[in-house]
Amino acid sequence: MENPDKNDIEFVLSSTRSVRKKLDYSRSISEEDLIACINAAVQAPTGIIGENWRFLILTDKKRKSDIAKLYRQILLEISKTRGIALKSSHLVLMDRLHEIPCMIFVLAIGEPGDSVSEQVGFYGSILPAAWSMMVAMRARGIGTTWTSLLTSKSAEIAKILDIPEGVTQTVMFPAAYTLGAVLRPANRKPAEDVIFWNTWDNLNSRSD
Ligand SMILES: Cc1cc2nc3c(=O)[nH]c(=O)nc-3n(C[C@H](O)[C@H](O)[C@H](O)COP(=O)(O)O)c2cc1C
Repeated sequence: MENPDKNDIEFVLSSTRSVRKKLDYSRSISEEDLIACINAAVQAPTGIIGENWRFLILTDKKRKSDIAKLYRQILLEISKTRGIALKSSHLVLMDRLHEIPCMIFVLAIGEPGDSVSEQVGFYGSILPAAWSMMVAMRARGIGTTWTSLLTSKSAEIAKILDIPEGVTQTVMFPAAYTLGAVLRPANRKPAEDVIFWNTWDNLNSRSD
């Protein structure tokens, strides 16, 4: 196979943004698209436990509505206790979450453990798959947002979705086809501002 065009890849990677507003709430996501995205996701690196990822795709109205209620509670609580003013895009997602065609829960069989090393291994074996899933959705015109708020009510979520004990909930993607969302690279610090060369203090001064 020929090498893919690096410009295309870097453009998709750089423009995989949260989409909360320009979403088609009335159109279901095709099973074919969902399966293709998950087939891309499961090509992500996986640690020694190996392929412990599971993807729970929720389209059932009642359960979506129960989840949306929890999401609202958490978001409003966080905004109140931490004094965070919610942006209009956060409010739109909160208000319309029950209508989203599909919620995708990225789950990992097992638990993260107590040590940093165990946690790096555990989350490192699931979050790359979640990110691949998000990029694959981007490539198919499906808009979504990386959300992790619901993990603070994982016991309630487990009850709604019959998730057994010993399964860790990570990201939930609320997903819908986009309605003409224009996705651009975000305004982030350039690489030069965040790289150290050889040792921690050596910011921006490569010596070799
Ligand atoms: C660990 C993590 C958790 C997040 N959780 C939420 C969330 O629960 N709800 C939400 O609306 N956005 C969530 N976001 C999305 C960020 O708010 C988002 O990255 C931010 O809006 C920047 O926009 P961008 O994705 O277009 O760069 C989360 C992002 C990360 C990395």
